[in-house]
Amino acid sequence: MQLFTGIFAVLLLAFPSLVLTESDISCYTPTGEEGICISAKQCPFVIDLLKQYNDKVPRIIQNQIRELACDGEEGVRFAICCPNTPKVILEEHVEPQSLSFIDPKGMEILDSVTPCGQRIPGAESLIVGSYGELTRKGEFPWMVLLKYETSGRPFLCGGSLITNRFVLTAAHCTTAPANIIGVRLGEHNLDTDNDCSTWLGYKTDCLPPYEEFGIEDIRPHPKFERHTNSYDIALIKLNQSVTFKPHIRPICLPIDKESKDIAFDQSFYIAGWGTTEKGMASHILLKAVVERQHLDVCRKYYNNATFTENHICAVNDRKQETCRGDSGGPLFFLNHFNKTISFVQYGVISFGGQSCGINENQPGVFASVLDMLPWITQNLY
Ligand SMILES: *[C@@H]1O[C@H](CO)[C@@H](O)[C@H](O)[C@H]1NC(C)=O
Ligand SMILES: *[C@@H]1O[C@H](CO)[C@@H](O)[C@H](O)[C@H]1NC(C)=O
Ligand SMILES: *[C@@H]1O[C@H](CO)[C@@H](O)[C@H](O)[C@H]1NC(C)=O
Repeated sequence: MQLFTGIFAVLLLAFPSLVLTESDISCYTPTGEEGICISAKQCPFVIDLLKQYNDKVPRIIQNQIRELACDGEEGVRFAICCPNTPKVILEEHVEPQSLSFIDPKGMEILDSVTPCGQRIPGAESLIVGSYGELTRKGEFPWMVLLKYETSGRPFLCGGSLITNRFVLTAAHCTTAPANIIGVRLGEHNLDTDNDCSTWLGYKTDCLPPYEEFGIEDIRPHPKFERHTNSYDIALIKLNQSVTFKPHIRPICLPIDKESKDIAFDQSFYIAGWGTTEKGMASHILLKAVVERQHLDVCRKYYNNATFTENHICAVNDRKQETCRGDSGGPLFFLNHFNKTISFVQYGVISFGGQSCGINENQPGVFASVLDMLPWITQNLY
């Protein structure tokens, strides 16, 4: 029995020693520590855990306490072998409580981001095929480019504007070889300073120019792991507030019930300039539609890599001309709820999905925003 060794972190706890009485039945824990068999609720380290977790001890810890079960005296319920000098307990696989609560202040900030997920009037496209296609000017005004300190092409990742001060991106984009030195908002065509339509040779319908912001803080998720791409999400705090404009606007996050309860097989948009470490697919912002798949589809494709509920697997089931958004960019859907139409971000582009022009489409893997919403709300100010 490996209950208290190996994978579990060791917590040194200063418990009062148990005072033995004659009637106590001595016992050994599965790891060979001496203890007494008493009601779990009398055991000091259990009492402490109950206090620490405000009576809501995570199931994984409860299960391990249960492993200490012993045959107590008649009438004693839930008897466990309570170690005399407990120096162990059970962290590691437990979501720290600090990462699982919704911060009311952060939630208030998200609630106040209204309207969100709105495109420039007139930028609606009627036809959305699965093929990568050009966006219209201002169709997705929350799209962001991250600018790096490098001698070559400076844009290596994407992101999305979620409040007037924060950009959401992938954690792996913040640990890239170069430093992030700025964020570009309101971009459409990287080749032109003014993004305009032309009519009879005249420029019309110009978007205001893009804007660049400096960085105040970069906050990757503390549980991000590069080798599994778990928790591949990060927040970037801009050095000053963004004034929203028609071509610079935030996207919604899934904070209302309707956005949380979407169908499993929901289809999503991705968008980007095809920005990767290797190159750029396009100077104009592109979009594509991807269909959500069971995680097993990604597990199978990526050699049984560790995928958990903090991942979303999605694939474009047709051969595409352009196939991926930007790393760190949003995975989002159109929420028709209540006759108001708004775009809601559901994921962050993590990796995969780039087999352009190859028959078999590679599934893309996305970090699930819903699962990391508590952490987001804790880091928005
Ligand atoms: C923010 O950063 C930008 C770009 O680096 C800079 O031009 C601007 O002055 C900075 N604003 C503040 C308030 O520091
Ligand atoms: C994944 O694991 C299963 C079960 O262990 C195995 O049958 C399958 O071949 C593995 N797939 C890959 C791609 O390694
Ligand atoms: C949906 O619309 C109804 C009636 O217009 C309104 O009372 C309600 O608050 C709306 N719900 C949301 C989530 O916007």
